[in-house]
Amino acid sequence: MAITIKDLAKAAGVSVTTISRVVNGNYSGVSEETKNRILVLVNNMGYKPNAIARGLVTRRTKTIGLIIPDVSNEFFSSIARGAEDEANGREYNVFLCNTDEDVFKEKQYLAALNEKCVDGILYAGTVKGKSNEILNLKEKQFPLVIIDRQIEDIEISGVFIDNIEGAYKATNYLIKLGHSNIACITGPLSDRNACDRLEGYKKALKDNSIAYDSLKVMEGNFKVDGGMNAMKELLRIEKISAVFASNDLMAYGAYKIIKSRKMHIPTEISIIGFDDNALSDIIEPELTTIRQPAYEMGKLSARMLIDILEKKSSHKVITRLIPELVIRNSVSEKKL
Ligand code: RIB
Repeated sequence: MAITIKDLAKAAGVSVTTISRVVNGNYSGVSEETKNRILVLVNNMGYKPNAIARGLVTRRTKTIGLIIPDVSNEFFSSIARGAEDEANGREYNVFLCNTDEDVFKEKQYLAALNEKCVDGILYAGTVKGKSNEILNLKEKQFPLVIIDRQIEDIEISGVFIDNIEGAYKATNYLIKLGHSNIACITGPLSDRNACDRLEGYKKALKDNSIAYDSLKVMEGNFKVDGGMNAMKELLRIEKISAVFASNDLMAYGAYKIIKSRKMHIPTEISIIGFDDNALSDIIEPELTTIRQPAYEMGKLSARMLIDILEKKSSHKVITRLIPELVIRNSVSEKKL
């Protein structure tokens, strides 16, 4: 039967608390003789600290939760990779939770992470917006860092990109190549990032004196099928020469419909995406897109959270990275 912390305390003639502190490397208030006697007993009796029990005593499990809304989207799996590399490098484990953009599943995962006594949470929410559970954790000062999808009206540390700037760059690039009949496939407009990208598209049109036409804007869902459905509708509108898709997966969906109509990308329709997933420089033609530094966002958010846990940072930190335009072969000059 496994040796317990109580067995050790009895054998050493000290309290459970003293044993717990010594096995967790906290020797303050313990004599050298007592410390050495306990360490010899730990070794001779083969005591293995229980990670959860250790967490309950020290309130630390050296584990963080990572909640992401769509693990099948390479943008989020890159975030997870960056967060895990940073956490593992600082001797933290990561519990990855994929919510499938489902608020009920998100609630279940938050409850499970609480039961597992994680030290903190990295959180990329669903497109449905504000989560009451996250607001409660914030109220309780639970260590929390937001990634990618901002939560309206609450001040929490986080790592984001400037979505308005990214969409502006994409649309403006199309305009500079002579396009004025530019459609936009948005993400779900319940999501702040999707709304900001639509705003960046509108701003670029306005700054170039091109009238906004809501008939050229279709709401998507950040997935391939949403891009396909939106592109089918847009092809009913004459003369569209370019499309800004608010993420790469929807751009892939648009590709599929355009090619099914035997139309040519980019000479008949130019396409620009957002994220720069790994597939985007493999598909034909390679997709021009706005690159989000997803891996770096994951790494940076994990660093922020662990710095909070280790008391190296106490104030709120908001990092907003600038996305860059990656020019490939899915956009060409508007033919006269
Ligand atoms: O591809 C999924 C999208 O949702 C990304 O652009 C990311 O910013 C998230 O908001």
